Amino acid sequence: MNFSPITISVLLTLLSPSLLLCSGESTVVVDKPPPTVCIIGSGIGGSSVAHFLRNYSVSTGLNQAQILMFERREIVGGRMRTVTVSGDTFEAGASILHPKNYHARDFVERFNLTVRLPTAIEESSAIGIWNGKKFVFKTFGCFGIKFPFVDKIISLVNDLYLFLRYGFSLLKMSNFIEITVGNFLKYYESLESRPIFDNVEGMLKWSGLYNLTKFTLQEKLSQLQLSPVLVNELVTVITRINYGQSVLISGLAGAVSLAGSGGGLWAVEGGNWQMAAKLINHSDVTLHLNEKIESISNLGNYYELNSSKGNSFKCYVTVVATPLDEVDIQFSPAISIPKRELQHTHTTFVRGLINPGYFGMKSVSDVPALVGTLEDPLIPFSCISILRKYNETDMTYKIFTRQPASDSLLDDLFSARTETLRIDWGAYPKYHAPEVFAPFLLDDHHLYYVNAFENGASTMETSAVAGENIARLIISRFMTKESSSSSDTRSCSSDLHAEL
Ligand SMILES: Cc1cc2nc3c(=O)[nH]c(=O)nc-3n(C[C@H](O)[C@H](O)[C@H](O)COP(=O)(O)OP(=O)(O)OC[C@H]3O[C@@H](n4cnc5c(N)ncnc54)[C@H](O)[C@@H]3O)c2cc1C
Ligand SMILES: *[C@@H]1O[C@H](CO)[C@@H](O)[C@H](O)[C@H]1NC(C)=O
Ligand SMILES: *[C@@H]1O[C@H](CO)[C@@H](O)[C@H](O)[C@H]1NC(C)=O
Ligand SMILES: *[C@@H]1O[C@H](CO)[C@@H](O)[C@H](O)[C@H]1NC(C)=O
Ligand SMILES: *[C@@H]1O[C@H](CO)[C@@H](O)[C@H](O)[C@H]1NC(C)=O
Ligand SMILES: *[C@@H]1O[C@H](CO)[C@@H](O)[C@H](O)[C@H]1NC(C)=O
Ligand SMILES: *[C@@H]1O[C@H](CO)[C@@H](O)[C@H](O)[C@H]1NC(C)=O
Repeated sequence: MNFSPITISVLLTLLSPSLLLCSGESTVVVDKPPPTVCIIGSGIGGSSVAHFLRNYSVSTGLNQAQILMFERREIVGGRMRTVTVSGDTFEAGASILHPKNYHARDFVERFNLTVRLPTAIEESSAIGIWNGKKFVFKTFGCFGIKFPFVDKIISLVNDLYLFLRYGFSLLKMSNFIEITVGNFLKYYESLESRPIFDNVEGMLKWSGLYNLTKFTLQEKLSQLQLSPVLVNELVTVITRINYGQSVLISGLAGAVSLAGSGGGLWAVEGGNWQMAAKLINHSDVTLHLNEKIESISNLGNYYELNSSKGNSFKCYVTVVATPLDEVDIQFSPAISIPKRELQHTHTTFVRGLINPGYFGMKSVSDVPALVGTLEDPLIPFSCISILRKYNETDMTYKIFTRQPASDSLLDDLFSARTETLRIDWGAYPKYHAPEVFAPFLLDDHHLYYVNAFENGASTMETSAVAGENIARLIISRFMTKESSSSSDTRSCSSDLHAEL
């Protein structure tokens, strides 16, 4: 090949910045102020983005980035929140973690938080399945269920009562759960072998979970030849507890919901929200509490974020870490995402005593500690569980309903109430199959959407997994953009992909 001076200079401009960039010893943008990354939402999703951005951007042009986080409420944590009922603290939103929620486990270890295991009442509780007239199924205190949420399908399999009713379908179900959890574990593979995903579909396909979003849980379980009795009873109880919906949710949301059943469920002592607090606190984030973002305008080289306090912020990168379905952030130019509705879960805490008469029972101790329900519009609640037993006539309960729990319903359900506390959560998406997904990238620049992943499933861990991917996506696209604005460094940016 004959190198003319012009080819050589082209080669040089092509190569030198990329060499500089790849050497990793200096930042790319020396003459510009460090870029600002703005994160909207202080839940586990937004705080994970901040954490992983800091962790992964050490030798990149983003290492000096300023991170601003906006939270419309006065506290961090979002759907991780505790309530206090007569002096005792309980989880009001996200409650339980799976033993294989590895990011959450890492956060707890990293920040010296304490793992909380089930308490005695949770440990020894009994489950009953209420059909509106009677308990179609009941286990007793010393068997199986470990948490107010359904735990330990494996041990349930050994439970004679369950086995008699549901038979070998229980084994098929636990096999289905195990395979799905196994697929999900791919998201913890090393950065070298795990791609960066710029869309949810690709991310789910890569781990083998995408097909599960194409069918309802009911279809999926019937393909696996589970008995309809199991699906209409125990499985329905679980999806109603975890997602406030029926077995018509997608197979993936359903499997995630059932996965809270391998045993070893846990929570963070003092409240799961502390994971977000610690992540934020250790990521050099400037936190703006009580500041709601009202508009996001793309002004060419940056985004202008206007807040409820009348402030304007210039952001090079903007990350939306909240579901957009019920917040009115004005985007300019407008963005287009598929319409999605949130399932509202009304969470009611009652200190008092359940009314056994409601269930046709004589004694309070006849009512199971966890009452799950079948899918029937006439049944006015999804579940009731005992959170804490002070003595035989004084307990704290948690009730999930799809509508606000009226006083008359609570008066029917309880013979005594000394304290009642209600929370209305825009809890999680209403799941459909086949599921459609919003993009992670809301435009061609640097506007990202963590909660696009929630159409797959909504949990603390899935938000962390989505947040980690978004952090990598930001870094890789930032490197590509920064370098391509001065020259083309494709080969280098793909190396960076591999490094992240
Ligand atoms: C009742 C209930 C029970 C659940 N149980 C479990 C469980 O047992 N285990 C589990 O893993 N998951 C559970 N989940 C799901 C889990 O809570 C969520 O998937 C997860 O917490 C979502 O985190 P996130 O950071 O993506 O969103 P969020 O936690 O919703 O965070 C978004 C944040 O953005 C803020 N925000 C919104 N708009 C603006 C704005 N314009 N400007 C500034 N700030 C804004 C919000 O105030 C919020 O703090 C449960 C959820 C509910 C509601
Ligand atoms: C990133 O996380 C890894 C794994 O936990 C840790 O070893 C490393 O020190 C972290 N790096 C930074 C810069 O925080
Ligand atoms: C971790 O917390 C425990 C108590 O919760 C405390 O005794 C210990 O000193 C802490 N360790 C660190 C490294 O902060
Ligand atoms: C998903 O479905 C497609 C088409 O039905 C099929 O080709 C593919 O093998 C399936 N993938 C998995 C992981 O089951
Ligand atoms: C955040 O960190 C600082 C010190 O680094 C500490 O004083 C403060 O209590 C921490 N806040 C939370 C909520 O952990
Ligand atoms: C945001 O605030 C700036 C400064 O006050 C203003 O010029 C701009 O019009 C506002 N943008 C929107 C979309 O309201
Ligand atoms: C149960 O506790 C309540 C107060 O918490 C008390 O008023 C009541 O007398 C106790 N009942 C019994 C049977 O101990």
